[in-house]
Amino acid sequence: MTTPLICPSILASDFSKLGEEVRAITEAGADWVHIDVMDGHFVPNITIGPDVVKALRPHSHLPFDVHLMIAPVDPYLEAFRAAGADIMSVHPESGAHLHRTLRQIRTLGAKAGVVLNPATPIEGLEWIMDDLDLILVMSVNPGFGGQSFIDDQLRKIEAIRAKLDRVGHPAILQVDGGVNDKNYHKCIAAGATAMVAGTAVFKGGPSMYASNIKTLKGL
Ligand code: DX5
Ligand code: ZN
Repeated sequence: MTTPLICPSILASDFSKLGEEVRAITEAGADWVHIDVMDGHFVPNITIGPDVVKALRPHSHLPFDVHLMIAPVDPYLEAFRAAGADIMSVHPESGAHLHRTLRQIRTLGAKAGVVLNPATPIEGLEWIMDDLDLILVMSVNPGFGGQSFIDDQLRKIEAIRAKLDRVGHPAILQVDGGVNDKNYHKCIAAGATAMVAGTAVFKGGPSMYASNIKTLKGL
């Protein structure tokens, strides 16, 4: 089994010094930088736009994993890619033509991810499998950090893992929301290969990031 990727969500960082925070998690052993983009329309919160992603780009060599919670999403893909997004993940509900959106992300040279909200069934994956690099299972309803992990979603992770393994699909299976040292290993056991964590990584400030990541991994 490959080591799961740790993707700290900078939503839980100190926004008054985002560049330093991104540098700190890079040095603390993060694998990807998870950037939550919210528009106050698709989700009830407003966060980061392409200009902020661009400003953060020089602060880390790690892949920028951009979780787009905006509708419509298509008009902004190019700007986020140009700003430095390496992975762009979209919700099926954020546009009328998911297949076209995923194709566009790959055409722009980024990896394409689809995000399933807690209530979104996995059946919608059936006809987009060839156009996917990543599947993100939301273990909270998107919009805010610091929410509680929804245990039911473990069954969804298992079901997607079974689906991927059946056809030998290499997609990364990522989990986002309420991840902590208690549920981390349940997600991995269910088949996840990348874990997003905001609160669990950023609590206690920069001096704690490396040990918080180790605690999550159970090291
Ligand atoms: C929720 C975001 C998550 C969130 C994770 O809408 O997509 O990435 O920031 O934060 P925690 O780990 O605190 O739930
Ligand atoms: Zn996220």
